[in-house]
Amino acid sequence: MLLNRRIIVGVCGGIASYKAIDLVSKLQQAGALVDVIITENAEEFVRPLTFATLSHRPVFGDLWEPSGEAAETHIALAENAELLVIVPATANTIARLAHGMADNMLTTVALATRAPVLIAPAMHSHMYTHPATQANLALLRERGVTVLEPAVGKLASGETGIGRLPDTATLLGAIQQVLGQHGDLAGRRVVISAGGTHEAIDPVRYVGNHSSGKMGYTLATEARDRGAHVILVSGPVALPVPYGVELCSVETALQMRDAVYHFITDADVLIMSAAVADFRPAQVAAHKIKKSGNEVTGQHEDGELAIHLVQNPDILAELAASLNGVAGSRPVPPLKRRLIRVGFAAETQNLVEHAQEKLRRKQLDLLVANDVSRDDSGFGTDTNKVLIFHADDAMEDLPVMPKTGVAAAIWDRVVPLLAV
Ligand SMILES: Cc1cc2nc3c(=O)[nH]c(=O)nc-3n(C[C@H](O)[C@H](O)[C@H](O)COP(=O)(O)O)c2cc1C
Repeated sequence: MLLNRRIIVGVCGGIASYKAIDLVSKLQQAGALVDVIITENAEEFVRPLTFATLSHRPVFGDLWEPSGEAAETHIALAENAELLVIVPATANTIARLAHGMADNMLTTVALATRAPVLIAPAMHSHMYTHPATQANLALLRERGVTVLEPAVGKLASGETGIGRLPDTATLLGAIQQVLGQHGDLAGRRVVISAGGTHEAIDPVRYVGNHSSGKMGYTLATEARDRGAHVILVSGPVALPVPYGVELCSVETALQMRDAVYHFITDADVLIMSAAVADFRPAQVAAHKIKKSGNEVTGQHEDGELAIHLVQNPDILAELAASLNGVAGSRPVPPLKRRLIRVGFAAETQNLVEHAQEKLRRKQLDLLVANDVSRDDSGFGTDTNKVLIFHADDAMEDLPVMPKTGVAAAIWDRVVPLLAV
């Protein structure tokens, strides 16, 4: 997504200026063409040489320095940019931008460019919450500038408050979101379930599975980067929430069903990539089950413990039955528009037959099947080998790919269905 994208990183003079170094490095590693503009005051904190070395490109600072390439460097930079991101944005530069001043290379380029502008304010909380700064930010927002809210935490002064520059992952997420805001999923609402569910046995134990959530989280990131509003209904996982994605955390299959039903009412797409537990303990013990047993399990002096399991609802199958008005099916809240439904099938044997049967029974638009017994596929891996089954019986056998590639392939197939 960042490959060959032309991004200007404007660096202002604040205590967080050094963090822009990491951002420029990560953008360059991701293949972006990064032009750094540094203010005179930023040079008190960081040196242009560091940025030039990491970006592999010249760094711009002095408005009056002839570059030898374009007659007007600031206009050439402004016109070529796909995004101007200012990290950190000082109170001073924010004020200048708000009032249309153009007294250095950065503010002049900001005025001259028609590319989207993203700013990441970072300063002491008194400066940030000052009515002047807030009014300036409101003015910039009104004009379409995206303002990244600073983080709350320890400030350079030693105090705790709002004003910290968000971490590099958040900055990168925000950059990708702005770059993709007019993508092929712009204006769409998508609901994605991810991770496994935990079905409680007692207050300390649960029945679970090996799902890491990576596939669902990657699908969420990809949809965000194509302009969608993404709602991620996630079981417990150890992954950071992608910036700009709305998270709904759940634990059990029943909670996941309620959350999915809640969010699909005005959604365009539902992708169920979560590994929802098929069964849950019939009864959850109120207290930790001791080795000797308890009121739920009975006594088990013989060294054995039996847990009685009952079936969980199959969310997509239940949804299909409900949409078809099958008698006795659980009613779904009315949907505002046609919902594209995509399922996942994790199988260890008879992949094709099981997948085709699931696709038909659950009346899906697409079914993504993977053989989780393979080393390069399924739970916890960074790659996936999938087959995609279409409603018209077509089947595609995709090669082993990073999960980012699989996510892109899935959305590539969902987008045309939205136009039907
Ligand atoms: C040690 C030090 C740290 C500073 N940190 C910040 C800061 O984090 N955020 C901010 O808005 N200004 C900060 N300032 C004030 C700016 O450097 C000052 O307003 C400057 O004019 C900003 O210039 P620029 O916006 O052209 O880069 C700091 C100043 C000093 C001396």
